Amino acid sequence: MDVDLTLSPRVDAVKPCKTLAILDQTTALVKAGAPVIMLAAGEPDFNTPSVIAEAGINAIREGYTKYTANAGTLDLRTAICQKLKEENGISYTPDQVVVSNGAKQSILQAVLAVCSPGDEVIIPAPFWVSYPEIAWLADTTPVIVPTSISRNFLMDLKLLEATLTEKSRLLILCSPSNPTGSVYPKILLKEIAEIVAKHPRLLVLSDEIYEHIIYAPAVHTSFASLPGMWERTLTVNGFSKAFAMTGWRLGYIAGPEHFISACAKIQSQFTSSASSIAQKAALAALSMGYAGGETVATMVKAFRERRDFLVESFGELEGVKFSEPQGAFYLFIDLSCYYGAEVEGFGVINGSESLCRYLLDRAQVALLPGDACGDDTCVRISYASSLATLQEAFGRIKKALVALRPTVPV
Ligand SMILES: Cc1ncc(COP(=O)(O)O)c(C=O)c1O
Repeated sequence: MDVDLTLSPRVDAVKPCKTLAILDQTTALVKAGAPVIMLAAGEPDFNTPSVIAEAGINAIREGYTKYTANAGTLDLRTAICQKLKEENGISYTPDQVVVSNGAKQSILQAVLAVCSPGDEVIIPAPFWVSYPEIAWLADTTPVIVPTSISRNFLMDLKLLEATLTEKSRLLILCSPSNPTGSVYPKILLKEIAEIVAKHPRLLVLSDEIYEHIIYAPAVHTSFASLPGMWERTLTVNGFSKAFAMTGWRLGYIAGPEHFISACAKIQSQFTSSASSIAQKAALAALSMGYAGGETVATMVKAFRERRDFLVESFGELEGVKFSEPQGAFYLFIDLSCYYGAEVEGFGVINGSESLCRYLLDRAQVALLPGDACGDDTCVRISYASSLATLQEAFGRIKKALVALRPTVPV
């Protein structure tokens, strides 16, 4: 008997994660022996700091290997509340926090918990690849608010105002931003808050996962700390980026109990608690001092040097445009001056995807096409790699771009 291969329409609505697609292509090239440099992943190159790793190992040794409370251990949620109070100026109780298997899960659960089918989720572009797909998965409609490189990829408030309707349920803010590295100044967040306050149905999901990876004088502001915003804000954070803990899978959400207990309810039927071992490790991460202490500061210093190198190097290429990243570890760079070039044996480069395929093929450097982030003029370079690797990558990229004989001279 033939098997009915029909899939849920939900699957068709969602695009596969482009970062993972590039990773597969790159892995195939590496397997074939090509010396590919991978600058497409959103993952620090550092190892998890040893105090955190030791705490995880001890958890296993001490038999701390059972389910925990669904929302996370009281110890960890209490430590998260303390961190949010001290570092972010926002007060929560442990009942207002849910710990999940990564911030990605926290975001999906939040969208599922607060949005009804047909609601609109407002997403400024360029965006982290998963936001619109999460919106689709939750039977909501992502509404994209474009920004421009000339305004440092920060939202135009008039455009935001014009976009909001009675269907707008959730505005997703990401600062410092993946993929642009932009950081919203407090004054602009306050203006956004004033607009949000005019829309009774509108909530804000503030994704602050890159908060510690920020370059002075830029300063991080938590949206929930702004006047009148605590009641409407779901604050998302996690351990993957600042603490180099991507594989531990640990993130969290904090907000008013009414919404957070709904997230917990979904989690209780979905994955139950996050890993008991990762939770012990996260507790150790939060005891490393303010903003992760010296260990995190050392990683941030390295990210800053790498940013400075890329900004200086790409700054010398004529026709290329970017806004200097103030945080995170990505450079989102407009290489559209090379579009239209025809390459023998390759074809025409007509957008960010074909440019990335070209750079992978000819320079053997893997980057993320900007169209995955809602801006086809750009590509995203992750600088979570050593300075030596970035120097080598830049040399290769430059050579490959020069070979395109651009309309604008290099
Ligand atoms: C902006 C942003 N939010 C959330 C996440 C998810 O992080 P995790 O699920 O590893 O905690 C990522 C990971 O790339 C990210 O870039």
